[in-house]
Amino acid sequence: MSELSGPELLTKAHDFLEFDCGKEPLNVFLTRHALANQANDSARTFVVLDGDSVVGYYSLAVSAVLFDEAPSRMAKGLARHPVPVILMARFAVALSHQGKGIGKAMFKDAIKRALAVSREVAARAFVVHAKDDDASKLYQHFEMEPFPNSPYHFFLLMKDIEKALGLRA
Ligand SMILES: CC(C)(COP(=O)(O)OP(=O)(O)OC[C@H]1O[C@@H](n2cnc3c(N)ncnc32)[C@H](O)[C@@H]1OP(=O)(O)O)[C@@H](O)C(=O)NCCC(=O)NCCS
Repeated sequence: MSELSGPELLTKAHDFLEFDCGKEPLNVFLTRHALANQANDSARTFVVLDGDSVVGYYSLAVSAVLFDEAPSRMAKGLARHPVPVILMARFAVALSHQGKGIGKAMFKDAIKRALAVSREVAARAFVVHAKDDDASKLYQHFEMEPFPNSPYHFFLLMKDIEKALGLRA
C-alpha cells in the first residue's frame, strides 16, 4: 500500500475498472455506472486512491423519506411533507485494503460532506440503505439509528452529527 489520497470526486482519469470489494453490485456500480450517474446529476461518487487506483468509494445523492415512513425523531416537529435527507447510496472498500480504517475514515468524510451540504440546502438526516446483514451490522457499529419498520435502513439526524462534532450544544 503506497500513500493514500482523497476522498475526491471520481473522474475518468482514475483507475477504477479493476475495483473489487467482494460484492458484485457495488463493483458494477463503480465500474459501469458511477461516472454516468455523475454526468446526469443523480449521484456524486467520492474515491480514496492508492496511487491512481481507487481503493474505496462512496456515493451521495439528495433523497427524501415519506413522512409516514420517517422515524419519529426524524419527523418530529415537521409538516407532513416528504422529509429531505442526504442518502449515502453506495459505500465500499477494495478487498485488498479492507480492515485498515479506510471505511471508517470515508464514513466520517461522507457525514461531514452531507452536513456541509445541509447548511446550504437543508436536509434533516444522513441516511443509508444496507444491502445485507453484514452491512447492517456495520452501520450499527457506526451507531446509526435503524428505521423502526425497515431494519436495513439507518439514519443520523444532522443535529446529532453537529452535536457529535461539537458544533451544537
Ligand atoms: C464495509 C466496508 C466498507 C468496511 O470498510 P473497511 O475499510 O474494511 O472498514 P474499517 O477498517 O474502516 O473498519 C471500521 C470499523 O468497522 C468495523 N467493521 C468493519 N466491517 C464491519 C461489519 N461488516 N460489521 C460490523 N463492524 C464492521 C471494524 O471492525 C472497525 O471497527 P473499529 O473502528 O471499532 O476498530 C468494507 O468491508 C466493504 O467494502 N465491504 C463490502 C461492501 C459493503 O458491504 N458495503 C457496505 C455498504 S452496503
